[in-house]
Amino acid sequence: MKVAIIGAGFVGATTAQRIVERNLADVVLYDIVEGLPQGKALDMMESAPIWGFESSVSGTNDPEDLAGADIAVITSGIVRQPGMSRDDLLERNAAIVASVADHLLEHAPQAIIIVVTNPVDVLTHLTAAKVGTPKERILGMGGILDSGRFRYFLATELGVAQADVDAMVLGGHGDDMVPLPRFATVNGVSIEALLPKERIQKLVERTRSGGAEIVGYLKKGSAYYAPSAAVAQMVESIVRDQKRLLPCSAWCSGQYGITGQFVGVPVVLGRRGVEKIVELPLNADEMRELQTSSARVAARVARLRIGG
Ligand code: NAI
Ligand code: 2OP
Repeated sequence: MKVAIIGAGFVGATTAQRIVERNLADVVLYDIVEGLPQGKALDMMESAPIWGFESSVSGTNDPEDLAGADIAVITSGIVRQPGMSRDDLLERNAAIVASVADHLLEHAPQAIIIVVTNPVDVLTHLTAAKVGTPKERILGMGGILDSGRFRYFLATELGVAQADVDAMVLGGHGDDMVPLPRFATVNGVSIEALLPKERIQKLVERTRSGGAEIVGYLKKGSAYYAPSAAVAQMVESIVRDQKRLLPCSAWCSGQYGITGQFVGVPVVLGRRGVEKIVELPLNADEMRELQTSSARVAARVARLRIGG
């Protein structure tokens, strides 16, 4: 299979590395900066004999090279600086993503599209509106990253294996995301039986500001190791038709009382894209939080005047 990654910056290049190192697919890395994708791709390929992988990665500034991609990952855009929210990136990244969507429409209209550029739920909506891809073939990455952070904080707090902690974060990938402690477990045991309420609440808050915590350290950029792991997991689930149940920004048509909106919900992800949206039995508070988060995404979509 062929994966096109648009934007050869930190997230794009690290995602390419994860994909080829796992032999998931061949990758084309595209960027508007001359030499950047070519240099990173060559450097990665020179690691192949040492690290031992068969997949290939090439770099390009020519949108025609996106042709034939089975999956397109959009990571092109600006990142936030300390003090900025993801929403502060809206107008500039919308213009960048709109131009990328034009390229995909022209050269790779059949691709399943994974949007990463922030604010991701809004820009997934924009991409879907521009490309016209069936809605089950377009999705945004946010929830896997947020859930990964929550799982890491829980595992560290409890002193248990990372692999034993399961948790989901739904909603828009923003300050009002919706971590779900009631559904978080350590090997089947509810975290509510293992941690006092106040500690759980602290970890929920740290999860909500997890992106800003990294920006605070890096100052000139945002997270990319965990984000690229999240994107690679989505790519793997599609390429290998794994049907993983993962929180992704997906088009809701009535699920959770949300209609005509991309927002983070649990999806079954396989070769056809979003094969199903799973509706968890949320209580009234959780449902209200999810709908509030979704309404916030809808307000940003309205700000861009995007059609359906
Ligand atoms: P970066 O600055 O390292 O890379 C962005 C790349 O996009 C640059 O190489 C730039 O030349 C390229 N670019 C700009 N305009 C372009 C265009 N029209 N066509 C092709 N390439 C273009 O940024 P980084 O760290 O890779 O982050 C990228 C985006 O992903 C940001 O918007 C960031 O907020 C977002 N992000 C989203 C996450 C999520 O969970 N949804 C997680 C991490 C990052
Ligand atoms: C994050 O949460 C930048 O949205 C990205 O780290």
